[in-house]
Amino acid sequence: MVQCRWRRRRCVAITVLLSTFLIYQSLLANGVTYNVINLGAKPDGKTDSTESFLRAWASACASEIRATIYVPPGKYLIREVYFSGKQCSSRQKKITFRIDGTLVAPSDYWDIGNAGAWIKFDRVSGVSIYGGKLDGRGTALWACKASSSTNCPDGATTLAFYNSNNIVLDGVTSINSQMIHIGIVRCHNVKLQGTMVSASGTSPNTDGIHIQLSSGVTVLNSRIATGDDCISIGPGCSNLWIENVACGPGHGISIGSLGWQLQEPGVQNVTVKTVTFKGTQNGARIKTWGRPSNAFVDGVVFQHLVMVNVQNPIIIDQNYCPHNICPTQQNSGVKISNVTYKNIRGTSATSVAVKFTCSKKNPCQKIKLEHVNLSYKDQQAKASCANAEGTTSGIIVPTSCL
Ligand SMILES: *[C@@H]1O[C@H](CO)[C@@H](O)[C@H](O)[C@H]1NC(C)=O
Ligand SMILES: *[C@@H]1O[C@H](CO)[C@@H](O)[C@H](O)[C@H]1NC(C)=O
Ligand SMILES: *[C@@H]1O[C@H](CO)[C@@H](O)[C@H](O)[C@H]1NC(C)=O
Repeated sequence: MVQCRWRRRRCVAITVLLSTFLIYQSLLANGVTYNVINLGAKPDGKTDSTESFLRAWASACASEIRATIYVPPGKYLIREVYFSGKQCSSRQKKITFRIDGTLVAPSDYWDIGNAGAWIKFDRVSGVSIYGGKLDGRGTALWACKASSSTNCPDGATTLAFYNSNNIVLDGVTSINSQMIHIGIVRCHNVKLQGTMVSASGTSPNTDGIHIQLSSGVTVLNSRIATGDDCISIGPGCSNLWIENVACGPGHGISIGSLGWQLQEPGVQNVTVKTVTFKGTQNGARIKTWGRPSNAFVDGVVFQHLVMVNVQNPIIIDQNYCPHNICPTQQNSGVKISNVTYKNIRGTSATSVAVKFTCSKKNPCQKIKLEHVNLSYKDQQAKASCANAEGTTSGIIVPTSCL
């Protein structure tokens, strides 16, 4: 630092000023850190640490400089927790969670089973989560549901963001969620990368990532093994980018179910690129209910997909109706247009590898197949079309029915 040999008094004053300025600068750059252990959390997996996480959040969100909430290694028992942006300072800056530990849900599934979400963020902006493992402890609830007992709660989404902007999830792991692992609803500009999801292939409704009413969502470099959809895209989504994902087991990547409501926002501009599906029920799927609706799907690209023993590698199903719950089967009102399947190869686990079952009232339009090669047990796979219009280019196996 400065050597004060000359005009000592003035020099010391300047040095102190300079140091204060530098500390202030580094605070602005690095912000403040709230370690949950200092706030009372216990990394023993047994002591309820919810309050210390909420105290850390309250301080971070009142902060006018960047704040980091640090969760050291260990297991933290967390009850239903709600991080609300409503109480944040209007000058709140970025809030970062750095999680080196595991958050575990209560062992009794009733504790969070009707909460909607276990870890919920609402109306936040500029929140990033780096690392961390979230253990929803869902196995007992899945068993309850499988036992056809009517006395089971719906189950909670493990991590949910609602009404939020500029969110980053980097290296987050979610295991054994009661229901959906990660939910993104009414959000804008969300980036998920290095997400790992793991749950049993028979666990019910445990979608890996569910996106709805959101725009500008990117999912990169992720691995999702679960019992329901790898990634599901609900109504009102636009400008989504999904790239370099490994799916399976599970139900594949699905746009839908759409068109349950008469008035429903559409899905626009979705890219799904470089995804491997292993042993999944579906690969690239679009599904709509057979009901009147003004919803639509416009501008979807599925490209560079590899299918390994997938039951329905390419499927549009506009008569979607699981468990026969539909009062009457009508024509779907959802208009599907401009969907491209490009460079898709691999194996189908059923003889029909490409299936377009579109609405009689609203046929699928501008379906494009380019370089598709799917086989079925070294046999000729089949394609089946109903009410589908489109074009092909390059090698198409099985032969197109468009
Ligand atoms: C489509 O979405 C991507 C992001 O996924 C975005 O970069 C692009 O600008 C969007 N295209 C249009 C026409 O909005
Ligand atoms: C089809 O969708 C793609 C991808 O969203 C988009 O870039 C393109 O402009 C659309 N084409 C038409 C004719 O709508
Ligand atoms: C399709 O893929 C199979 C298996 O990878 C390969 O043997 C076959 O040559 C491909 N067909 C065409 C027409 O490229």
